[in-house]
Amino acid sequence: MTTPYEDNRWETIPIRIETDPDACAEVVADEIAALIRKNEADGRKTVLGLATGSTPRGVYRALVRRHQEEALSFRNVVTFNLDEYFPITPDDPHSYHRYMWENLFSHLDILPENVHIPRGNIALGEVSSSCLEYEKKIAEAGGLDLQLLGIGRSGHIGFNEPGSPARSRTRLITLDHITRSDAAPEFQGLHRVPTRAITMGIRTILAARRVILLVTGEHKAAIVRTAVEGKVTDEVPATFLQGHDNVTAILDLGAAADLTRLRAPWLLGPLADQGLAWNETEICRAVLWLAEKTGKAILKLTEEDYNAAGLQELLATADGAAYELNLKGFYRLQNAITGWPGGRTDGSRPKPLRGGAASVFPKRILIFSPRPEDDVLSMGGTLARLAAQGHEVHIAYQTSGASSLPVEILERFRLFARDSGATLGEGPEALRHQYSLIRQLDAKAAAKICGIPPERLYFLDLSFDWHVGEVVKRSVTGKDVETIAELLTRVAPHQIYAASDRNDPEGTSRLGLESLRRALQATASLPWASDCDIWLYRGGGSAWPLPAIEMAVPLSPSEVLRKRRAITQHETLRQSATLPGSTPHQLHELSSRHDRATAEAFDRLGLAEYESMETFTHPDFVSNLLVK
Ligand code: F6R
Repeated sequence: MTTPYEDNRWETIPIRIETDPDACAEVVADEIAALIRKNEADGRKTVLGLATGSTPRGVYRALVRRHQEEALSFRNVVTFNLDEYFPITPDDPHSYHRYMWENLFSHLDILPENVHIPRGNIALGEVSSSCLEYEKKIAEAGGLDLQLLGIGRSGHIGFNEPGSPARSRTRLITLDHITRSDAAPEFQGLHRVPTRAITMGIRTILAARRVILLVTGEHKAAIVRTAVEGKVTDEVPATFLQGHDNVTAILDLGAAADLTRLRAPWLLGPLADQGLAWNETEICRAVLWLAEKTGKAILKLTEEDYNAAGLQELLATADGAAYELNLKGFYRLQNAITGWPGGRTDGSRPKPLRGGAASVFPKRILIFSPRPEDDVLSMGGTLARLAAQGHEVHIAYQTSGASSLPVEILERFRLFARDSGATLGEGPEALRHQYSLIRQLDAKAAAKICGIPPERLYFLDLSFDWHVGEVVKRSVTGKDVETIAELLTRVAPHQIYAASDRNDPEGTSRLGLESLRRALQATASLPWASDCDIWLYRGGGSAWPLPAIEMAVPLSPSEVLRKRRAITQHETLRQSATLPGSTPHQLHELSSRHDRATAEAFDRLGLAEYESMETFTHPDFVSNLLVK
């Protein structure tokens, strides 16, 4: 899906969209490999500017594979990294030195003297001369042939935070609060994230002959849109890329989700020109978009509203009758509302995906929670309803969530144990186990408030949790899949709820869903599997956008309070900003804000007015997901 930007008045730089992060990584690795080979054939070195963080990991894996399997040599490659925390020692698990050697350099034949990363372990007084020296080395190497960039939610490229001028060079900067809170889970607490970093400047980056901005994940969708559709401003340093004459943004579907071409493609011209058609889904999407844009209730939208917003083509499909279109949009949302998420005793609403188990009552329901807090955070009200309505509810906690626990909490529990005369094990394994036990206590207390007894809780301890103080490879193992498949077989559920987000490609939610997808494939031939309905809640306590909502479960004021009580049982998380992308609010505030916003949107659009709502979608609404 490539759109030359000349054809697209909303996008200011060329954009290429791939379905998932792996496909993006291959595209970038192909370009880098071709550049290295071409330069080598011409007898030249290749000078690469490199980034760290979660986004480029896939590119580095793809390059290592090309080196190992396709004889791609890095002997003629010189690299300059964008940035490094300050102060930090090179062997610190969080240092970008360590990241680069572990993820890339140590697997290649690159010459160590050709690797350059800003030094984080120098005295403050030496920083400016060291930065000047870094710029000099880039110039001596002949300038950057290709600079690979990610983007931060603050709009930074490198660590050029908002306010960075276009003329900036390599220097010491103070990290933005958003940047630090995004890094907090990895550092196990905001207070451990360094406040400063050394970064190449905007001018240094823009001097590269070729720039690739690689962005994956829905959590970056809003900033991507601002960066490529917004006006150039130092408040969003990534907008400076609009002035580069050889830049491409490579995005996965999650990161591209807010671009006009995906969010409101009708604004770009006839739908057919974009390979789309005015089917039910597109019609409802456009009607809801229009109602939100105009601030009107759906059933009050007029022909003038449709015309003024550029929806003439849609109006024409309904013979000019706005009301017909309005009804479609209205019933789409109306039919999603249900107080019976497990289905009514008579098998009617919610509309099941596959239907076989619709009339079974009560049902066996299995909820997958990637971290111990995800279940109550995103669907605590629905959980309690399912249990209260007599269903047999089971919850599987996929990872231990140990890594998000501040060290201080463990210390407090250990002190309590010691003072009560208990002897606790020492060493990394024992400590990890103790972290997990603390998180299990939280989860058990929260589930109890929702009416789920401890014998229906499963702590699977799958492999893809962060391990405290270690740089780990995050991927789903065969054993993870087996563990889930065994549980599925044991419970034989009629309904499954799973968390979904398209955020960090190696994030816990994504890997949680991937492990479930593979386990469902492995169990697809079992009798329960063909009748089992799957609902996705959105990870991290957030809500689905209106057009994606297939089931909306209203919460009364007292249910909201119970959900809040359940979430606050995860009190050991209170000290740290644990949700990627969150500012350090209390967890329950974060989720109730989303739930309330959904209920308010339903109200504004002319549907019933509820206190709060939890939302679910079917897997086919989310790309690269579950069973087909
Ligand atoms: C890293 C860097 C940053 C990251 C950005 C995105 O060297 O310069 O600009 O590219 O913060 O980080 P991730 O990929 O972790 O979301």
